[in-house]
Amino acid sequence: MHYLPASPARDRRRREIVGSCGWYDYSLAPPWLLSTIDSKALAAKQFGGVMWKDALCIAFRDRAGELMGDVEVARTMEKELKAQIDLVADRADVKEVIVATHHQPFYEVVNRTGTLPWEYFNAFMGSTGSARSSRALRR
Ligand SMILES: [Fe+2]
Repeated sequence: MHYLPASPARDRRRREIVGSCGWYDYSLAPPWLLSTIDSKALAAKQFGGVMWKDALCIAFRDRAGELMGDVEVARTMEKELKAQIDLVADRADVKEVIVATHHQPFYEVVNRTGTLPWEYFNAFMGSTGSARSSRALRR
């Protein structure tokens, strides 16, 4: 076991595995949905009588103890992921860098139905910001 957010892990093949839970910033909701509701409606994580359980079970706090919003959490985790990538990406002894996240980093990999409430809850699948962090690896 290795807790990736604490540090990268290395395997016998000289591959560095970097990782973060990642978070969501609603960027994976479809544009048609984002144009019809505001960020407060997304932050509530409830639609049509259904609740995304993070609304009850997750509360990230900053160093001062203040509650953090989803976008701030996503940016923080992306920043931490980028720091890990920067730590290993240019090392001559690293053959390959593998990025692992819990949340999805690409709009294209999210399962789409075009229907509600499904597309509303796609807002909580991840953030395109994780992909921006990972693009640092493509040289
Ligand atoms: Fe999750």
